[in-house]
Amino acid sequence: MTMAKRVLVLNGPNLNMLGQRQPEIYGHTTLAGITADVEAAAGGFGMEAVCRQSNHEGELVTWIQEARGDFDAIVINAAAYTHTSVALLDALTLFEGPVVEVHLSNIHRREPFRHHSYISGAALGMIAGFGPVGYRMALMALDDLWRTGEETP
Ligand code: DQA
Repeated sequence: MTMAKRVLVLNGPNLNMLGQRQPEIYGHTTLAGITADVEAAAGGFGMEAVCRQSNHEGELVTWIQEARGDFDAIVINAAAYTHTSVALLDALTLFEGPVVEVHLSNIHRREPFRHHSYISGAALGMIAGFGPVGYRMALMALDDLWRTGEETP
């Protein structure tokens, strides 16, 4: 029997406030709701998802370092650190498996300072603008990658 692929799903600062935070941008779904959806979707793909959220850059860096050898992929919404953190980029670059970047909002439709992502430099791809379903889309992309063994050029 093959082992289920393990996916670490990381959420960055202020995403613990989803549901209360700017619902006109981020919607009404809470982080607990997203987590339940991701865990169920992962099960459907035969994967195991472990979801964590932190408001602290260093804690996210440590979790990414510790994911080496323990997880097969990382799905990350680094929130505001997307636009500021070389430390997260460096940590993700060290990770040997695929990284999928997720944003609830379409960062390219928003303020110019949100248009640049440091995370993208280490990511296979980015999903932005589809709200919570973006996390499920990330799992779908990983499932496809693992079934076909092909990365989209
Ligand atoms: C976000 C977009 C970021 O610009 C913002 O700082 C967030 C959330 C998103 O999911 O749309 O906190 O990553």
